Amino acid sequence: MNKNKFLIFSLILSLSVLLISCTTSAISYINQNHVEYATNRWTNTATNELSEGRTLYIQNCSGCHSLPKITDFNESKWIELIDEMSKEMKLADNDVNKIQKYVLTILNTSNKIN
Ligand code: HEC
Repeated sequence: MNKNKFLIFSLILSLSVLLISCTTSAISYINQNHVEYATNRWTNTATNELSEGRTLYIQNCSGCHSLPKITDFNESKWIELIDEMSKEMKLADNDVNKIQKYVLTILNTSNKIN
């Protein structure tokens, strides 16, 4: 590899690292509040389902556009959107369900302004 190629490569690498750390830090981690909300609402919720949903959300929903801000839409709009988006993708029903639980939990446990 010559020097210029190496510099360009390093630049792209550091930009990607920066981009990934920005996107992931902006999105809520799972806390006790979230787990309580989810297990009350969906009695069959397994303990790690929300964090799996979070990972699936980050991995699958930021490929075509930037990761959507959860509080930008209300619950019925989210159900519709997740349904619509996942039809285009090869996601297992189980995974779609985890994404939905994650999104609705974050939405309903955040202090919304509107
Ligand atoms: C195959 C590409 C693709 C993937 C993967 C994808 N989306 Fe989208 N998404 C789009 C396109 C194209 C639009 C804009 C057109 C539209 O609204 O249908 C969009 C729009 C959106 C919007 C904005 C809608 C609005 O009214 O402003 C949200 C929210 C969204 N997607 C959520 C998701 C979620 C959640 C996932 C993961 C389950 C996901 N997307 C995965 C292509 C994708």
